[in-house]
Amino acid sequence: MANLFDVAQFIENTPSLAMTPEPNAAATQAAVVFDDVGKVFAGARGEPTAALANVSLNVTRGEVFGMIGRSGAGKSTLLRLVNGLEKPSSGAVRVNGVSVGELDERGLVTLRRRIGMVFQHFNLLSAKTVRGNIALPLKIAGVPKAVIDKKVDALLELVGLSAKRDAYPTSLSGGQKQRVGIARALVTDPEILLCDEATSALDPETTQAILALLRDINRRLNLTIVLITHEMEVIREVCDTVAVIERGEVVEHGPVWRIFGDPQHDATRALLRTLVHDLPADLAERVKPVRNLAREDARILLDVRFTGADTQEPDLGALAAALSVEGGQVNFVHGGIDRIQGHAQGRLVVSAQVRADPEKPAQAQIAALLERARRHANHVEVLGYV
Ligand SMILES: Nc1ncnc2c1ncn2[C@@H]1O[C@H](COP(=O)(O)OP(=O)(O)OP(=O)(O)O)[C@@H](O)[C@H]1O
Ligand SMILES: [Mg+2]
Repeated sequence: MANLFDVAQFIENTPSLAMTPEPNAAATQAAVVFDDVGKVFAGARGEPTAALANVSLNVTRGEVFGMIGRSGAGKSTLLRLVNGLEKPSSGAVRVNGVSVGELDERGLVTLRRRIGMVFQHFNLLSAKTVRGNIALPLKIAGVPKAVIDKKVDALLELVGLSAKRDAYPTSLSGGQKQRVGIARALVTDPEILLCDEATSALDPETTQAILALLRDINRRLNLTIVLITHEMEVIREVCDTVAVIERGEVVEHGPVWRIFGDPQHDATRALLRTLVHDLPADLAERVKPVRNLAREDARILLDVRFTGADTQEPDLGALAAALSVEGGQVNFVHGGIDRIQGHAQGRLVVSAQVRADPEKPAQAQIAALLERARRHANHVEVLGYV
């Protein structure tokens, strides 16, 4: 693998794209900068339709940056601005400080060698073997055969497909095809890899394997990866940073652990719904609002959330102690904790006892429980009683 970058020296680098020192550290760290980007397309009747508006984001060098949003949100458009397949209508997209929208054809050709792209439907040539597909970008660039062969062998090993080097795409599984797609995207030693729904056509197990491969490549080659997906699962598995796109705008962005632990926007919550431990239907049906609670014994259901804001693991012993009353049980009813980027976050539904007490109304007991529980979790709310 030591020679993986040899070809980078071989392929000419136009001076306009060489990394020029930038004035401040944040800008130097950024592989891609979206600076107040807007994109307007002509609609069905030629009327201007905004696909993107006011998008400002920094993709840091070496990170895996995820963009998530519903169908039609503008994700592919955003990605295509990075390698100049689309030009912004307003604002600028800068790669290594160079404004992509202002590049001429020659500049774009060079840019695209520095940026690999992986597609949902692989886009392989069926008449060419695995080797032939991976070699193609270098062949077009006029790289000598000996250099190509060495490079392709190294990449086949990297993606775990050495045994399939002479096979044709039709004989490969979806996951194997995507490995070829990834190897082909890496053959020009790009600094940035763009993935447009790279795992959407794959089954869950193959998805995991491809995501693990992307993570491995990111770490080994210090490659910046920008990936788009409509699945939060993909973001959780592989991304460092996530931007949530809704109707062409970035509604929320930040480290994955923070967005997952404490989503602020409805669009984010909706996307996370497939992952969060929602209250099971049978339980939801039985929960009554606490304002109806008369003077009787009751089990209070609490929604306890850990956002990952504190890096230590939740102390369930302390939580249970805070919630227990004499002779009453504290039950863990539902939920779970994930670890994302070293931050423990998740949701537990816990039940605690409230006793009929003429001296102390249920509402006051609940208020006291909440106050104590909040010392051991980031958010605690009452769901109701059963
Ligand atoms: N070339 C084009 N001409 C006109 N409208 C376009 C063009 N490309 C995209 N659009 C419109 O821009 C909006 C965003 O499209 P885009 O493909 O970026 O969405 P997306 O988030 O990638 O969706 P999906 O998840 O379905 O792939 C859509 O309303 C789409 O119809
Ligand atoms: Mg798309």
